[in-house]
Amino acid sequence: MAELIDITLEPERAIAEACVVLARGEPIAIPTETVYGLAADATNPAAITRIYEVKGRPRFNPLIAHMSSLEMALKHADFDPLSMVLAQRFWPGPLTLVVPVKSESPIHDLCTAGLSTIGVRVPEGFASLLIAAFGRPLAAPSANTSGRISPTSAAHVFADLGEKIPLIVDGGASPVGVESTIIKVEDGIVRLLRPGGLDVAEIEAMLGVPVQRSDHAEAIEAPGMLASHYAPHAPVRLDARSVGHDEILVNFGNQTIEGGDTAITRFDLSPAGDLREAAANLFAIMKKADTLSARAIAFAPIPAEGLGEAINDRLARAAAPRE
Ligand code: TXA
Ligand code: MG
Repeated sequence: MAELIDITLEPERAIAEACVVLARGEPIAIPTETVYGLAADATNPAAITRIYEVKGRPRFNPLIAHMSSLEMALKHADFDPLSMVLAQRFWPGPLTLVVPVKSESPIHDLCTAGLSTIGVRVPEGFASLLIAAFGRPLAAPSANTSGRISPTSAAHVFADLGEKIPLIVDGGASPVGVESTIIKVEDGIVRLLRPGGLDVAEIEAMLGVPVQRSDHAEAIEAPGMLASHYAPHAPVRLDARSVGHDEILVNFGNQTIEGGDTAITRFDLSPAGDLREAAANLFAIMKKADTLSARAIAFAPIPAEGLGEAINDRLARAAAPRE
């Protein structure tokens, strides 16, 4: 059974205990600003294998290597000028850059899935302090069983993986609430592999060039992002303007939804219509809705701009046909 350590109550013990367990080659759950990560020593193949076992991931996908700083990242990967600008501007933060891995990096092939590139991110707060104390990068996918919704609280992790891992560090609710935005620069072209917690418009404003959205074939390059990746049990219905009495309504911005008063339950991702607040609430509300039985979970329309791009991406996956 996992031990829970709260970083606001015991910050030093959280780091010390986490380092001990990581050094033993075991994965632990840690808070990041996006979602909780299932973190293990990125240089230790046995530790990375444990991540896959705990998640029940059917196959090896490349994992993001989390760094304490850009300085640490530069020891493991090569940064083209545009990636460098993005790293300097947006790290620490919800941005993952896919860049060539250095041949001399001790990061194991199981983290990169044998690719010549690596996804690198410097997270905010506790996670980067932990990585600095541990002294090595941490491989960390979201801390959930494969195919389930990513956790945004320690309680979510405990309910899902509490029996399988020795330690969960509790850092409260994840402030961003959706996974990092993944960018890959190739021949000076900036490509979006996954919309996420950093608004693409901010990236475009910083670089002064457009970001290319991936078409479907390219999206395979981020294979963790398969359809139905975020599936709750009940079917998900999008762009709902009316809701049945046997459905759950998830509203946004307190829109008028026909039948809303007689739905099984009503949630609102952000009554004020704030997309950042909606992203932060998304997974927790999906999980709550998932505990109730309903014919479907009906989501009101959500604007596509800003963090709405990442929200709509996750919802489209949740609504995708199931195998
Ligand atoms: O916010 C996040 O990114 C969270 C927190 C824990 O940091 N992590 C996360 O990891 O979402 P994960 O494993 O669920 O998603 C990582 C994504 C996958 O879609 C994977 O395929 C992609 O990153 N990825 C990693 N390395 C890559 C590479 N070299 N080339 C292309 N895609 C890569
Ligand atoms: Mg995930």
